[in-house]
Amino acid sequence: MKVIGINGSARKDGNTALILRLVFDELESAGVETELIQLADLEIAPCRGCFSCRGKSNCVFQDDGFCSVMEKMIAADGILLGSPVYSADVSAKMKALLERAGVVAAVNPGLLKHKVCAAVAAVRRGGGLAAVDTMNHFFLNKEMLLVGSTYWNMVYGREIGDVLSDAEGVANMKNLGRNMAWLLEKTAARYSGR
Ligand SMILES: Cc1cc2nc3c(=O)[nH]c(=O)nc-3n(C[C@H](O)[C@H](O)[C@H](O)COP(=O)(O)O)c2cc1C
Repeated sequence: MKVIGINGSARKDGNTALILRLVFDELESAGVETELIQLADLEIAPCRGCFSCRGKSNCVFQDDGFCSVMEKMIAADGILLGSPVYSADVSAKMKALLERAGVVAAVNPGLLKHKVCAAVAAVRRGGGLAAVDTMNHFFLNKEMLLVGSTYWNMVYGREIGDVLSDAEGVANMKNLGRNMAWLLEKTAARYSGR
């Protein structure tokens, strides 16, 4: 089983990467393979709204980083989205990914069905819940299996590494990882081949 984590931050290896890795640590302890994709390494343009992806299972525009990320989302058993809070919501990079993946999956129903998923946000002070909700909205109309923890999935920090001082947020990320691993194991036989 494999979970991909997508870091929507423009700052590679920053706080969002750190909290995604906290979730990964628990998944890996349970034997789940992980891969981190950092959108800081990729250009992803917004959706052009052409709907030419109908029946094609990926975007027709292959001149940026989107299609390779979409292929990995389709191949994975689980998807973990992470974004820093920018302007009280997800980053523009994450929003562009959600627009394009959302349309590809909408016009090709079932593409992401039954994948285990969760969203996390790194936030300095305000907008964490809105960012988590934005990513959850993507999951919830694609028939995906959304995993929760004991608090909403935001961790507080500004400078790189600050998030590791948010003890409650760190504990919540670890519990989220264990809950994802639990659901992956429970659904593995039923949805093998997803
Ligand atoms: C463009 C930009 C906008 C931001 N907007 C907010 C905001 O609205 N609310 C907030 O609490 N923090 C905001 N922040 C701070 C980041 O969310 C915070 O530093 C976060 O830990 C960055 O994660 P990263 O290291 O993964 O990029 C903003 C940062 C940037 C660069």
